[in-house]
Amino acid sequence: MTAAPNSAPFPPARIRAQADRRRTFAVISHPDAGKSTLTEALALHARVIGQAGAVHGKGNRRATVSDWMQMEKDRGISISSAALQFEYRDTVINLVDTPGHADFSEDTYRVLSAVDAAVMLIDAAKGLEAQTMKLFEVCRHRDIPIITFINKWDRPGQEALALLDEITERTGLRPAPLTWPVGIAGEFHGVLERASGDFIRFTRTDAGAGIAQEERLDADAAAAMIGGDWDTALEEAELLELEGQEHDQDAFLAARSTPVMFGSAVLNFGVHQLLDALVDIAPAAGPRPDQDGNPRPVEEPFSGFVFKVQAGMDANHRDRLAYIRVCSGVFERGMVVTHATTGKPFATKYAQQVFGRDREVVDTAFPGDIVGLVNASALRVGDSLYVDRKVVFPRIPTFSPEHFKVIRAKDSSKYKQFRRGIEQLDHEGVIQVLRSDLRGDQAPVLAAVGPMQFEVAEDRMVNEFNAPCTLEQLNFSLARRTTPEWVSVLSRERGVEVLSRSDGALLALFPDRWRLAGVEREHEGIVLEPLVVSA
Ligand code: G4P
Repeated sequence: MTAAPNSAPFPPARIRAQADRRRTFAVISHPDAGKSTLTEALALHARVIGQAGAVHGKGNRRATVSDWMQMEKDRGISISSAALQFEYRDTVINLVDTPGHADFSEDTYRVLSAVDAAVMLIDAAKGLEAQTMKLFEVCRHRDIPIITFINKWDRPGQEALALLDEITERTGLRPAPLTWPVGIAGEFHGVLERASGDFIRFTRTDAGAGIAQEERLDADAAAAMIGGDWDTALEEAELLELEGQEHDQDAFLAARSTPVMFGSAVLNFGVHQLLDALVDIAPAAGPRPDQDGNPRPVEEPFSGFVFKVQAGMDANHRDRLAYIRVCSGVFERGMVVTHATTGKPFATKYAQQVFGRDREVVDTAFPGDIVGLVNASALRVGDSLYVDRKVVFPRIPTFSPEHFKVIRAKDSSKYKQFRRGIEQLDHEGVIQVLRSDLRGDQAPVLAAVGPMQFEVAEDRMVNEFNAPCTLEQLNFSLARRTTPEWVSVLSRERGVEVLSRSDGALLALFPDRWRLAGVEREHEGIVLEPLVVSA
């Protein structure tokens, strides 16, 4: 069912060509590794053509466009996941933002369902940090190809070989450096580009001032200029070769190997190589499997799925903004698409409001692109949209919660509103809702991946559902999935509680991993499955 305003024909070959020139990726990193800095450095090299929501800004850098909630304004951080679109070497790059500071939440994980590749950004001094590992686990679950960028090489850090060992040990990926640093972290001359054998010289520019001039020298010139550090780099590169740490495109695409590059986002060094790698080796938008595993070819009529819903953009209108990843066909503003969950038509005439203030309307979008739809109150995370031939994409999984609070209505006369609010938030996936007979319906447990989810939930309960509530922290930090036959055993254990989630999963909650280990020791064969990612 389509009613595009200017139904210019898009022959399949044209759609395929557009999909082929799309690279859709996210940066996975720990706070302070330099994600904002890298994002801005990437955009500096490219022609920014669109911005859905915004990349959160810090200090004197660009301020967020999507500061839609008071708490977000107060804290100056972005709760929303948004996308930045830019063009580089005739390729359209969609960078999907992963909120990752205090606003770490299920949304951070969910946006990874919309990408085809990830850049794992590592601080050279700190190595792989906790949040990076959590995001990595989600990528692993989906076999998302990962390019590793080791950042902050302009200042003292760990040795390059030690960082490679850490990647191997902790991720199981085989690191395959595309560039190799010449000079240790902090005394950095530049990188050896392994494919060409050239030296790319590092020249300091003022932080964020502009694109660093890139000076390229052949091996002889590099040896004459650098001397000892160049020889060391060559020896180390030989060692990598002997150990088979070469780029292997198939292994990269199968998420068994990760190409590694070294640089400095703040000084804009290595960023251009990273963009080249995205264009040259990262996967283009390809056929996306539906819930039965059958891929929908990119040239089929429009289809996409919602990977993020943002509410409350405008307090007066209770607006909802739904971000869609286009999977096949062409999205044309104004077209009427079918909402797979309800079978109802959905008009997309407001798609233009999505992009930031400098953005012109989004008239067309191709596979790999991110489109935001306003007035999308019927759409939920994971919902599919299509034109002509029905498709339902797989559900977006829920993730292992680490924070738990009991929620109660402050005012018992508002109980009906309270219940409706909880149901709605659960349904939207804003927060997971856990229940048990013991606690009753009046005091369900809210479970979250990041603590800010509670604030969003509380804010919406008060302002949107008119149901003031109280939240009380529970002393749990771990959830494991169990089965009905173990419920009575677990319920007798000190400090352990079993609750059921609205999708039917039985979750056993533990205060810490020591208590969990104790219970596992005591009851041989007990079913306590980790929920890193659960479908
Ligand atoms: P995030 O989004 O991952 O949290 O990190 P962000 O880009 O905000 O960077 C965190 C800090 O690390 C910033 O310093 C930033 O300037 C610095 N940084 C990022 N990339 C590099 C790099 O390649 N080399 C060095 N030496 N520093 C880097 P800040 O002092 O916290 O903030 P600001 O005042 O500079 O904005």
